[in-house]
Amino acid sequence: MKRVLSGIQPSGQLHLGNYAGAIRQFIDMQVDHEMYIFVASYHALTSVREPKVLKENIRQVVIDYLAFGLDPKKTHLYLQQDVPQVTELCWLLSCVCPKHMMDKATSFKDKVSKGLSASIGLYTYPILQAADILGVDPDFVPVGEDQRQHVEITRDLAEAFNRQYGPVFKVPDLKIRKDAGLLPGVDGQKMSKSYNNAIDPFMAEKPLRKRIMSIVTDSAPVEEKKDPKKCVVFQIFQAVAGADDPRTAQLAERYQRGGMGYGEAKQALFELILQEFAAARTRREELSKDPGYVDEVLRQGAAAANEKISAVVSRARTAVGL
Ligand code: ADP
Ligand code: TRP
Repeated sequence: MKRVLSGIQPSGQLHLGNYAGAIRQFIDMQVDHEMYIFVASYHALTSVREPKVLKENIRQVVIDYLAFGLDPKKTHLYLQQDVPQVTELCWLLSCVCPKHMMDKATSFKDKVSKGLSASIGLYTYPILQAADILGVDPDFVPVGEDQRQHVEITRDLAEAFNRQYGPVFKVPDLKIRKDAGLLPGVDGQKMSKSYNNAIDPFMAEKPLRKRIMSIVTDSAPVEEKKDPKKCVVFQIFQAVAGADDPRTAQLAERYQRGGMGYGEAKQALFELILQEFAAARTRREELSKDPGYVDEVLRQGAAAANEKISAVVSRARTAVGL
């Protein structure tokens, strides 16, 4: 069975972009892959400086993962902080990482320009990500488009290490859904936890509806024919329903025919989200009331990840002469 690894930072509430770009792939893949999915809590230290907030976010991401449909019988679900060996691996990789590889990483510059502090942790963030990945010898890393460069850096680092020390790391493949670019948020920019433009499908109905009604649209009048591809409401609808779903084709047709206002499209999106995530919303409520179950899932996930990562770290230590 092919092995998969991926993770998400607990830097805020998960949203439809995370679902469309990442989590949906995890759920599809868990059927016939060996899965390692984790909460990137060390990575979140590059942006979250409030201990209470971090702790709470970590818990919420685990609950969201489970509510969206990750099945702990099929997926090893763990916290990055429960496998501290990845930081040792990060160091071993840092020592073969040419500085220019980090200089050309775009996410550091992007995040600093958005106000994150330019810490060394943020600068070397991709090396820690490489350690997360290479530590479990995965075949595939499913992520959203914005993580492409990080997975490419991981591959380059694995190759650099292997060139120096022999074949220690498996070089994994990137997996990006072909129909999913980056999902826009309510303001039309990339949906992100940190831009206050995200739609969280677990929101209570009233604020959820309000959020959806606040999506930016152009000022085309109701009767005008509209291009669905240019509309954020449609793009989000398509990401939730699926590009091949008849509901998506139906809505596209209504845009093209004219006679439908954006309010109506937004109402359709609101109803779609309630319908698609009905089971997930119920599951999330149940999980919030069962901390013992969540702890046990994490304990088992950490045990499996520890076993795997310890073996890889020990291989790397031996290779470098420690
Ligand atoms: P955020 O930008 O909200 O902090 P993360 O960087 O933690 O999100 O991303 C977690 C995962 O979700 C990554 O695989 C990322 O590529 C994916 N992802 C995040 N935002 C989007 C989006 N708007 N569209 C598609 N995928 C996304
Ligand atoms: N950088 C990823 C993000 O912002 C999170 C992450 C950390 C990750 N380590 C990883 C993703 C390893 C995939 C594999 O979303």
